Amino acid sequence: MTVANRAALIPSKGGHLKVTDVETSHPGPGEVLVMNHAIVIQPLDAKMLLAGYDGAGAPQSYPALLGSSGAGTVEELGEGVDNLAAGDRVVYDTRAYVKGDVNRREGTWQKTVIVDAKTVAKVGDAAFEQAVLINFPLQTAVAALHLFLGMATPGSGNSEERVLVWGAGGAVGSYAVQYAKSVGHTVVATASPRDVERQKRLGATEVVDYKAADAVDRLRQLGPYKYLFTASGDAASQAALAALLQPQGGKFASVLGGQVDLPPNVERVYTAFSQAAQKEEHSAWRDWWYGEYLPRVLQDGLVEPARFSKVSGGLAALQQASTDVFKGKVRGKIIVNPQE
Ligand SMILES: NC(=O)c1ccc[n+]([C@@H]2O[C@H](COP(=O)([O-])OP(=O)(O)OC[C@H]3O[C@@H](n4cnc5c(N)ncnc54)[C@H](OP(=O)(O)O)[C@@H]3O)[C@@H](O)[C@H]2O)c1
Repeated sequence: MTVANRAALIPSKGGHLKVTDVETSHPGPGEVLVMNHAIVIQPLDAKMLLAGYDGAGAPQSYPALLGSSGAGTVEELGEGVDNLAAGDRVVYDTRAYVKGDVNRREGTWQKTVIVDAKTVAKVGDAAFEQAVLINFPLQTAVAALHLFLGMATPGSGNSEERVLVWGAGGAVGSYAVQYAKSVGHTVVATASPRDVERQKRLGATEVVDYKAADAVDRLRQLGPYKYLFTASGDAASQAALAALLQPQGGKFASVLGGQVDLPPNVERVYTAFSQAAQKEEHSAWRDWWYGEYLPRVLQDGLVEPARFSKVSGGLAALQQASTDVFKGKVRGKIIVNPQE
């Protein structure tokens, strides 16, 4: 029996979302069809909807469907899928922001979505909300630190080595602090003064106000740092990390790119960390992420999930919720259940 599907479509570039009946896709070989029960509006989704973002992964044709991650139950299995069964409760990400042309099958702002079985993890007893809050931003933080900067895996790091996470107040930054701490490093974070207590609970040894005039001087006293990551990615943070790398130079990872003048001895590592698991060149990392690390994080409650609020109204709530995310009106993430 084919399940009914509805989607929040962008009818044309720059248009408002329209919730409408759409065809239910069927899984091809190696794919599954998932009934979507929780999605989180990521800043990237909001930028694609509201700011004309047309970088990598943005829709190339319309009507288009946004969203690249979610959590729900497996409904239908494609040929050759043997690691999942109908009814499994799962969390996943899709190729929607890697191959723009698949977004109507794999965009997650719909009731049912097609997912590559390689990028699915069972959530065990974890709530869909918890699972979906963790996957995308934790994957961003761990890909940046582990895959791209070369940090070790949990339990195999050295507390003598210091890590700086700039802009730790958001989801990506909070998870970066927790991952670096779990590896065994000493973590220094920058965050708002109102967030100091939480950052210390998450694992930061020192927390510096990123708006303080002497922030870079204080951070220099607390260094040097083996790993530097800006989870806010703004130009001021990139300039600060470049200054902290002087005089010997080095590299830092950033969640955002942008035109920033950096000294020649500084390398900025910027890519779509959140989509790392979808790239075939990272297949070994993807298998570790979905096959081992993420299930353990969910089952053993290894991280404190990002703050969130849940809005009612299902897919129809996505336009206003995206606007709130885009305007920075919410602290933490907004969760929507597309089945409502
Ligand atoms: N490259 C990638 O793969 C990738 C993946 C995911 C996200 N991103 C990007 O990373 C950024 C963060 O994403 P997120 O999901 O963590 O967002 P988020 O959870 O919405 O984080 C927002 C929080 O970050 C803090 N913040 C905002 N501006 C800041 C600044 N200039 N300096 C320091 N802290 C600042 C604020 O917390 P306080 O007010 O408490 O300080 C704010 O509440 C977004 O721009 C997103 O598009 C990139």
